[in-house]
Amino acid sequence: MHVESIPHQAAAPRTYASMTKNLVRAILLSMTTSLAAHGAVSKASFGTTPDGKAVDIYTLKSPAVEARIMTYGARIVSINTPDKTGKVANVVLGHDKLQGYLDDKKTYFGAIVGRYGNRIAHGRFTIDGHQYQLPLNDHGINTLHGGTVGFDSLVWTGKEIPNGVEMTLVSNDGDQGFPGTLTAHVRYTLAGDALKIEYTETTDKPTVVNLTNHSYFNLGGEGSGTVLDEVMMINGDRLTPTDAGLIPSGQTPTVANTPFDFTKPTPIGERINADDPQLKMAGGYDHNWILNGPNGTMKLAAKVYDPKSGRTLTVTTTEPGVQFYTGNFLDGTITGPGGQKYVKNAAFCLETQHFPDSPNHPNFPTTLLKPGETRHSTTIFTFSVQKAQKVSK
Ligand code: BGC
Repeated sequence: MHVESIPHQAAAPRTYASMTKNLVRAILLSMTTSLAAHGAVSKASFGTTPDGKAVDIYTLKSPAVEARIMTYGARIVSINTPDKTGKVANVVLGHDKLQGYLDDKKTYFGAIVGRYGNRIAHGRFTIDGHQYQLPLNDHGINTLHGGTVGFDSLVWTGKEIPNGVEMTLVSNDGDQGFPGTLTAHVRYTLAGDALKIEYTETTDKPTVVNLTNHSYFNLGGEGSGTVLDEVMMINGDRLTPTDAGLIPSGQTPTVANTPFDFTKPTPIGERINADDPQLKMAGGYDHNWILNGPNGTMKLAAKVYDPKSGRTLTVTTTEPGVQFYTGNFLDGTITGPGGQKYVKNAAFCLETQHFPDSPNHPNFPTTLLKPGETRHSTTIFTFSVQKAQKVSK
């Protein structure tokens, strides 16, 4: 949105016309102020998919943050924030062109993953006595992030809203084997240093749903090396450990006295190579923490601090869990916009979510959505800078 600057004028007698002018001036000034405090939004083309669908990219700007979000996969493409010296860098991994995203079938960089973010064991679940079968796109054994063609690789419809963009996707009954026509709205809005993501879903048949955002953060700037020195705090006393296929066993043990205890801020790399079967199986952290605090209510999920740049990221959410993933399979073959190699542990993901494989675990918070119901979920990424922080030893 463009706001004209208002030329200075000599004092005029208080006629009706001059009072109207003053009123208009006051309104324009207050709009300028609110644009500065919140976000300005602009839209541009980001290319075309091979099947001819136009992809748009929206730029959300506040004085503190600039975030770019595109309609392909409703993905966050970049988030620019300043470090403690004021130097701005992009703190999420990504590609500079649409083609990079089309060629990259593995990472889900910045995407909204769905219908079911994370895994469903053997791609099977039952609703009202009817068994559904999804594609087994995870090593031929399980379903990962919604199947072969998940929400990450579909073109959403974008619409500018105040301070942001609303992305809408309608997934047909039977899409990737899921029952029901699912309508999903994801609203990204930027206010000051906070990027808010609000999810809303409805269905016309009972189904399961678990959307999340799959951004890969590196607070030192994407491509600046690993995140092993970044200091993580996760507000979760319990975990859902998994089998070798990363499917939860259903148990919910405490993290106390394990390398999974991030209740006190701890460098990500401090225990990542510990002799622990869960870490060995996943090749690092790739687990769901059960967040302290009630499901459905806004609470702290995690706080990350990068001692080098001073950047911090605070994640708050209404979701009951968060998948902390340390980019374990990145191996330098995928490169960033400037050709930087994305090496192992080049980023961390904090995917706020319902627990993996919930449809097959009645003791987990339900992911079932029925006709007439609306599922709401909110996650906020807040960026700031900090000079120094105590680290647990
Ligand atoms: C999963 C990882 C997976 C990655 C794919 C994460 O959400 O937990 O196991 O490899 O997504 O990018």
